[in-house]
Amino acid sequence: MKHLIDPTDLTKEELDSILDLALDIIADRKKYSEVCKGLKLATLFYEPSTRTRLSFTSAMMELGGNVLGFSDAKSSSVSKGETCADTTKVISCFADVIAMRHYEEGAALVAAMNARVPVINAGDGSHAHPTQTLTDLLTIRREIGHIDGITIGFCGDLRFGRTVHSLIKALARYKDVKVILIAPDQLKLPDYMKYEVCELNGIPYKEVKSMEEVMGELDVLYMTRVQKERFLDEDEYDRLKDSFILDAEKMKLARKEMTVLHPLPRVNEITVEVDDDPRAAYFRQVENGKFVRMALISRLLEWADDPEHNSSLVPEDAVRNRHVCSNRRCISNMENVDTLFRPSADTPGQWRCVYCESKPKL
Ligand code: NCD
Repeated sequence: MKHLIDPTDLTKEELDSILDLALDIIADRKKYSEVCKGLKLATLFYEPSTRTRLSFTSAMMELGGNVLGFSDAKSSSVSKGETCADTTKVISCFADVIAMRHYEEGAALVAAMNARVPVINAGDGSHAHPTQTLTDLLTIRREIGHIDGITIGFCGDLRFGRTVHSLIKALARYKDVKVILIAPDQLKLPDYMKYEVCELNGIPYKEVKSMEEVMGELDVLYMTRVQKERFLDEDEYDRLKDSFILDAEKMKLARKEMTVLHPLPRVNEITVEVDDDPRAAYFRQVENGKFVRMALISRLLEWADDPEHNSSLVPEDAVRNRHVCSNRRCISNMENVDTLFRPSADTPGQWRCVYCESKPKL
């Protein structure tokens, strides 16, 4: 069975087959209107969401299927203390596919380990958000025409922004992509992303402190919100929240073919005047999200019984219960699961948590 917990769960061929199917759905929506007739998607959302949950819901409805679930953990048995593992076992009895969003990092992986149906990670803490990545890739393909060879600038909260982490990992599958990281010191991309994802995959990256100095180099500008809910110190959030604001003046420095993406919701980081610029693609991006989720649901259901398409949830080199994760938001510190660590890809002697990729506690 194939789950989508991290973008690297998909091979390049699987990734392309989902994007190709999304393009075909866009070209002929009627053809797909009964693909999921009689099937059910469960949306288990433990964290707020507008776009992602409704996008999954409308995707399943357009495929002729049905949707059940909750959008607030307080209204589910979580409030009685039920674990994510148990909830998933229960929901596997009701649904054919599960989409889960959770504030704990690694929650979707625990869900997949316990499910009898495919699980889709709809965002786990600040760790990963692979369906936003599919949305972003489809949008780049539709706006620019190709993904190979692009120069992409990520701007804003690169530390907590899970959409950034997942998109960079997926871009490692494409050729000649260049990454420019635009963030204040406090919100820089985590080291494991720089060393184990960019360097190991040969993705050239540079870090800069202002948008102006790189605007003219970019094919794609990926703006992000400063992730207020992940800050422990509210004053720190207030100091950083307006670090970068894209406005019409800055757009003048960009190429006329550049495209602006944003996973939304936007707070202050793009002024509304930019919305009328034809290069602003973030609302088109939302619609692409629905089409790509239609393609993903169809493919995961098609692959569910196909041994060719399998997710190995526990890496072969993982060790059990020898370390404790240093990340207090990791599910391994919240629920009674085996702690699982694998050797770091680039640093000998270093370990990474299989659930959230953090280092062990010393
Ligand atoms: C993003 C998320 O939830 O990570 N939103 C989304 O899914 N479209 C980005 C964000 O919340 O800033």
